[in-house]
Amino acid sequence: MRSLPPEGFNPFAPGVMDDPYPAYRELRESCPVHFSPQTGLFFLSRYEDIAVLGRDRNRLVRGSSLTGQFEEFRGTALHRILGPNLFGLDDPDHGRLKRLIVRTFTRGRVAELVPRIEEVCAGLLDEAALDPSGGVLDLVPVLGHPLPFLVICEFLGIEPRDRSPFLGWTHQVLPIADPFPTDEEKRLAVEGGAAFEGFFAALIAERRGLLRRCLPLPPGLISDLVKIAEEDGERLTEDELLSLAFTLLVAGFENVTNLIGNAMRALCENPDQQQALRAEPELLDNLADEALRYYSTTQYNLREAAEDIELHGVRIPAGSRVVLLRGAANRDPRQFPDPDRFDLRRRNSATNVGFGEGATHCTGAALARLEVRIAFRELLRRCGTFEIDRFRTGPTKLFWGPRVLSAAYGPHS
Ligand code: HEM
Repeated sequence: MRSLPPEGFNPFAPGVMDDPYPAYRELRESCPVHFSPQTGLFFLSRYEDIAVLGRDRNRLVRGSSLTGQFEEFRGTALHRILGPNLFGLDDPDHGRLKRLIVRTFTRGRVAELVPRIEEVCAGLLDEAALDPSGGVLDLVPVLGHPLPFLVICEFLGIEPRDRSPFLGWTHQVLPIADPFPTDEEKRLAVEGGAAFEGFFAALIAERRGLLRRCLPLPPGLISDLVKIAEEDGERLTEDELLSLAFTLLVAGFENVTNLIGNAMRALCENPDQQQALRAEPELLDNLADEALRYYSTTQYNLREAAEDIELHGVRIPAGSRVVLLRGAANRDPRQFPDPDRFDLRRRNSATNVGFGEGATHCTGAALARLEVRIAFRELLRRCGTFEIDRFRTGPTKLFWGPRVLSAAYGPHS
């Protein structure tokens, strides 16, 4: 059955991303390099193309594929936090900024967080007062959002005095990461951007003040970055510091929130896999990757062709905007046999491209995997079989996960 409309694939049209998988299948099989005149974008959908071209920084660059979208906001607070954002940069700026953060995300630093993540997770589930005889868990507000949010705040060294506004600001800003936001989405993003900028500008000024008075800074990545910016403004400018703080906070929780929600959705839809997980707890190690492969939380990333590219008989002219459809690649049967099966015993789930690849691979992947493992270990320990009670996807396309997921759970045996 044809899933693509005659005018071509357009993930930004209403409803298309509610279930993009039939269209992805058709793209992969019939037109692996698909130009959609309506959007002016080239879409790549096969695993190998994305895995190879995604790391080829001579042929595909970030260019202005993302930052170009933010130009119309120049002069606003929103542009201050998004303009120099790491996700839109190429070398040498990308390498310079990335080096500043990767060394703080070492295996050892992440492993040290285990007891604290366990404590936060247990505390949140205690607060939810789950009924041992069964009930309904509203996953996103109870665990999916607060767990990664509290963890990233601690990692960055932000005291979440009141975490409620951050979620609202984030949902105001994120829709403009998609290429065709509506006027209302733009208006809300400008508002959310101003709120974030105000928060981080004050935080950074406070830390600089402490440093100048030779007082100790609170621990965490933001203090480390403030020291670097203060010592050497060429290594990290004031605007980059602001943008990095914002990017790390939002990248650090929104994707993990979605992955926890997507993993729960996949488990509810596949009771045999829930059973397998309870019988063989070591399968938890593969849950984050298989859930990310099956329901990718980052459905796509944008790039720009740095030169003319010939692929599957199609010419992508230099300067074109190219969309790497990660969600489609992660269901490519050439890489993942029987790809529409959610299978925790799959041996190569971790080769999914949901965390990116090469020099732009996700800095927080190990942290995200850890949070998912701890969250589900604790959920399975406290609750019986989960089933979907209420479900609604989020409104954005790039960041893909449930906005509402209530799971009915049975008594724990
Ligand atoms: C399920 C969780 C996550 C997913 C699915 C995810 C996904 C991704 C993807 C696909 C990219 C590559 C973007 C591109 O190719 O342009 C990326 C990059 C990145 N991620 Fe994550 N991410 C997750 C969690 C996190 C966490 C917890 C952090 C921690 C702060 C984080 C920080 C970053 C950063 C800093 C980059 C930029 C890398 C660069 O430009 O070189 N992510 N992530």
